[in-house]
This record gives sequence, structure tokens and C-alpha cells, in this order.
Amino acid sequence: MQITHTIPETRRLTQSLRQGSKTLALVPTMGALHAGHLSLVRAARAACDLVAVSIFLNPLQFGPNEDLARYPRTFAADCALLEAEGVDLLFAPSPEIMYPPGAHTLIDLPDLGRRLDGASRPGHFRGVATIVAKLFNILAPDRAFFGQKDAAQVAVLRALVRDLNFDLELVVCPTVREPDGLALSSRNRFLNPAERRQALALSRALSLVAEAIAAGEQAVPTLERTLRNALEASPGLRLDYATLVDPDTLLPAPNLSAPVLVAVAAWLGDTRLIDNLLLEPQPEAKAAQ
Ligand code: PAF
Repeated sequence: MQITHTIPETRRLTQSLRQGSKTLALVPTMGALHAGHLSLVRAARAACDLVAVSIFLNPLQFGPNEDLARYPRTFAADCALLEAEGVDLLFAPSPEIMYPPGAHTLIDLPDLGRRLDGASRPGHFRGVATIVAKLFNILAPDRAFFGQKDAAQVAVLRALVRDLNFDLELVVCPTVREPDGLALSSRNRFLNPAERRQALALSRALSLVAEAIAAGEQAVPTLERTLRNALEASPGLRLDYATLVDPDTLLPAPNLSAPVLVAVAAWLGDTRLIDNLLLEPQPEAKAAQ
């Protein structure tokens, strides 16, 4: 695995590696890698000739009172994991390289970027869209891989690719979970043993919604109440949002006749966790139309 830190050397290296029209996959990360990231790397490896990973803890997507200072930094361990996966290129720039003095341009999605996590984390998706656009411009991948766990981020990045005409395919991979259902997240390592147990409320609340639908419930307000009640009854957990939305617009879902994102975010102590379930259109809902 070759490691680059600057933009010109990354461009040179990708161009020379790609000779003979080899396809390039990009897996953007902020480091603190876990099995969820490695599942993206494996999907990337299966889809393209070359795999590039970026590790950049992007200050622009953290608010002033958020967890940038304590976000886990595990660069040596991350490199060993990526090396073992046969990654071709690791781009690991510094904040000064990505945001040199005098940089002006930000990418904002004024409506979409202020929904779900964008509502509770002002400026978050402006930071995500800006850094991801820069990574796309620097590495020019054919495909870029992201996790379904960050469902609102997926909606924002789909819009970014479409609106700015990036010539690449955005590939979304399933959420990877612990055996007990907790979605993998770099932030799980902040949880103390009690919070780790309480965190299961997120995936359990999502399962309750899936079970209610399997039992014939089709009404979105009822399903949303089921979700919210389960989370509000969970000790130690402070709810941020619990909602059923359209996965592309992140606006409230009117019914189950089209794909629906069941999305939750909650605080356990100082740690904010998110999870979601993507529902395929329900045959009964289609028939009722
Ligand atoms: O999902 C993440 O880890 C980050 O938001 C991303 C896409 C790498 C941008 O910094």
C-alpha cells in the first residue's frame, strides 16, 4: 500500500496506477476503522481494479461543541488493517493540505443538508459535502463507497453527485452490526458498559417497527409512535429524532408505497449514535393506492 499526504503526489500516483484504463474505487473515511469500513473496502475491491482509501478527520463537519477533540485517532492500526485488505493507495492529508489559508469555497445544500442530522448538527453536511467533493476531484474515482448507516449523508452525497455532475457511481453498502444488533460506529468506543447496553435500544426500536409492519401495520403515524415510544421509554437515552422519511428527500414519508427510511438518533451520555432501517415498498400499500 502506498501512502500519500499531498494532492500532487496523490494525483500523480493515481494516474500512474490507473494506466491501462484500470478502474478506481474510493472509500472515504475519518479513520478509527472498524469492520464496517472494512466491508466497504471489500466491496470496493470486488468492484474495481484499484482501491484507494482516504483517512481525513474533517474539522469542517464538526460543530464547535462536538467531539472532534476526542474523536479516536488510530492511524497506525488503520494502516495495518488497510494493508491486510490489499488497499493500493491511502491518502492521508493534513487539515492544512485540505483547507489551506485563503480557501473560500463551501458546498451547501440549503434544504436537504438541514434535515435529520443536518438539523441537530448545523453545518455538518456542508462540511461533509465540501470534503467529499474535494476528494472526488483529487482522486477522480469511478466508484465511491459509503455505508447505509449514515443514511442522511447518503441522501446528501447522492444529491451532490447529481447536482455537480460528478462522473462516478455512488455505492451504498449495508450497515454492519455487532451480534446483538448494535450498528458499528467509531463512536461506540466512547460508550461505558451501561451505555453500551442502553445503546441496543436503537436497533431494537427499529426491529419493533419491522415487526409491526410484518404484523400488518401500514399507518406511518402509528409506526412513528411505536418507534418514538420505544426510544422514549429506554433508560439513559436522550432522543434526538425518530422518524419515517423519504430516503432521498429526508421529508416525512406519506405512506409505505415507496421506499421509506426509518431513522433514529439519540444521545447516550456525551455520545450521539444513529441507526436506520430502509423499508422496501410494502405490497399492501401498493395495492391500496
Ligand atoms: O462518513 C464519514 O466517515 C465521513 O462523513 C466522510 C464521508 C469520510 C467525510 O468526512
